[in-house]
Amino acid sequence: MNIALIGVVPPALPLDQSRPWNSARQMLVCTSVTDEAQDVKTFTFAVEGGGWFSYQPGQFITVELRTADGDLHRTYTVSSTPSRPYSLAITVKAQPTSVGTRWMFDNLVPGSRLRAYGPSGHFTLARNPGRKYLFISAGSGITPMMSMLRWLSDCAPGSDVVFINSARRPEDIIFRAELELLAQRMPNLSLGFLPEGRSKASPWAGLMGRIDRHKLAMLTPDYMSREIFCCGPEPFMKSVSSIVRAEGFDMGHYHQESFGATSIAETVHRQAEESAVDGIAAGLKVSFLGANQTQTCQPGQTVLETARAAGVRIPAACESGICGTCKVLKRSGDVEMRHNGGISTQEIDAGFVLACCSRPITDVEIEA
Ligand code: FES
Repeated sequence: MNIALIGVVPPALPLDQSRPWNSARQMLVCTSVTDEAQDVKTFTFAVEGGGWFSYQPGQFITVELRTADGDLHRTYTVSSTPSRPYSLAITVKAQPTSVGTRWMFDNLVPGSRLRAYGPSGHFTLARNPGRKYLFISAGSGITPMMSMLRWLSDCAPGSDVVFINSARRPEDIIFRAELELLAQRMPNLSLGFLPEGRSKASPWAGLMGRIDRHKLAMLTPDYMSREIFCCGPEPFMKSVSSIVRAEGFDMGHYHQESFGATSIAETVHRQAEESAVDGIAAGLKVSFLGANQTQTCQPGQTVLETARAAGVRIPAACESGICGTCKVLKRSGDVEMRHNGGISTQEIDAGFVLACCSRPITDVEIEA
């Protein structure tokens, strides 16, 4: 394992003498980069100028990557635990077609500064507490589960958890060594690794292959009575949800991280079309107060699209109303907002909207 560490660790004030990270004002500083598996690295950050991180296990942040081709925004689930609040880690896998993640691999080193937004997300233990848990993931979908498990290990080590991870080969199981260590200190933690294929590098004698009804029942005979958290590629999550639904599982206790899912992007696209068909007024004016720009909104256009047409920059990542990156304050007027959990009721009450999924229904003024 290759770990690169920053030479100087900033002194950390006690929690009650410092403030949590404020993404509007403070950058992140990379403190270490750790190789986890092939094409998988963990980037760990501290708050620039001091501070700590307040988040729920399972939440994500959006990072702003200043590439030569322009700024990219990418959303990653936090893999660290808030029970160790002075650092925050994301564990990312570079796919062959990755642009943002590859840029991070090539450019982020200890000492690098990074703008980020968040944390956001509702795929959390706090929101969906259970008596017993099944954490089931595939590939890098393991990251929110790892945050949850690390949290339980620190705060409730007696928790009853079945932790299943599916990977392409045995050596692709991320965090395997740490998970085996956690299983020694958590008496009610049961691990189930499920590689899809063998490899010469890492012999395997256990269960193998894609998840199905029989393997799930072998690894978790009592899954019907557990709170289920599922994260991974769309086909994997579809398989798991189909299996448990077919068995009559109460889907109110099934939670999956749909972040980035095509289905949601498609839903938002469909909503845009529906909005246009609904006859939401055309020719409305959107004023961006910070940039001192006013732009006419085309039929069905979002605040974000209108901002882009005006040359006004609003950071955005998922563009599906999930991540909360494009949150802006609305000073006046009304919008139709169809989000997917990226904004809380309190924030809406305070006047915030998500620019990517808000369509003006009157002239509006936005603080951007
Ligand atoms: S960009 Fe993610 S909610 Fe708008």
